[in-house]
Amino acid sequence: DKAGYKHFMAKEIAEQPTVLADALTAYLAGDDINIPTESLDFTKIDRLTMVACGTAYYACLTAKYWFEKLARLPVEVDIASEFRYREPPILPGTVSLFVSQSGETADTLAALRYCRGKADRIVSVVNVETSSIARESDLALPIHAGVEIGVASTKAFTCQLNVLLLLAIKAAKVRGTMSADEVASLLDQLRGLPGHFNAALDRDQTIEKAAIRISEARDVLFLGRGMMYPLAYEGALKLKEISYIHAEAYASGELKHGPIALIDKTVPVIVMAPHDALFDKTVSNMQEVMARGGKVCLITDPAGAAEAGEDVWQMITMPAVDDRLAPLLYALPAQMLAYHAAVAKGTDVDQPRNLAKSVTVE
Ligand code: M6R
Repeated sequence: DKAGYKHFMAKEIAEQPTVLADALTAYLAGDDINIPTESLDFTKIDRLTMVACGTAYYACLTAKYWFEKLARLPVEVDIASEFRYREPPILPGTVSLFVSQSGETADTLAALRYCRGKADRIVSVVNVETSSIARESDLALPIHAGVEIGVASTKAFTCQLNVLLLLAIKAAKVRGTMSADEVASLLDQLRGLPGHFNAALDRDQTIEKAAIRISEARDVLFLGRGMMYPLAYEGALKLKEISYIHAEAYASGELKHGPIALIDKTVPVIVMAPHDALFDKTVSNMQEVMARGGKVCLITDPAGAAEAGEDVWQMITMPAVDDRLAPLLYALPAQMLAYHAAVAKGTDVDQPRNLAKSVTVE
């Protein structure tokens, strides 16, 4: 049931404030994060290995920033199809973490089975709680996204990010790398995020206008720095999956190491950059693009919009949020851009060609 929406994807994008609020209710009791210490004791862990495919892999890449920054825990992230055949050594003190919406992705399941008997603990972050990956884990953490039908993952991504962030905060708390006050303040901000999601959804018309322009392009670049770098990948994947526009993502700092050669007026550059400590560096990357006739679509916050100047081609302004929460919030305009570009191109948004919702074969 599309509940009055034209596509499941539109419905699932719009559900994000509600499912995020539900997930927070399920995981939080005051400042306590409901993840049983007896199943996962972060004081006994030396490192985390995270493995997944596609969008779930980009959620893992984002989480690496959180685990390292908040909990000072070393993290490795890998694509399941590479990890399983590389057969990497798993040292004692390792927790292996698998992220999967369906819980049935063949490569992710094979990677999990490889870690069985080698890792101290096998943890999964899943949407389908009865899935093979959930059943074969020592601890399976549900993301509470509800059923996701659109082949392009949307609400599952933000709900995966939410659980991974809660895990990182829990790790920081027990490892003593964040004080009780810091934890309380970050959780407070997280509780305010469903409201900011609603504000992001209210930007629909501006985003649709930008998407219609972007839909005319053959190639699109996505740039991000720090925690927004994995989201650039997710934005590019979403756009190519459903609109069939060729999209590539780069860390902003990599621009001058090659991709800048592609810049001209036909290649829109989508820059995802809240006004954080790295914003000035991103502004100088944008100037390099604009100096070569490139068209910048900037997704930022009010302070970023004020500083970015007049020459930005399309500006999408998000509410200001704590830097650490920006990857969750900025996922929404990335999804909405892809959605509206696909609708403008008339593609089959919910069933894009050649793709399946659950990849149960290699
Ligand atoms: O069910 P999973 O989370 O394991 O699926 C992983 C990928 O196949 C999936 O995220 C895919 O990349 C989506 N189509 C992305 O929108």
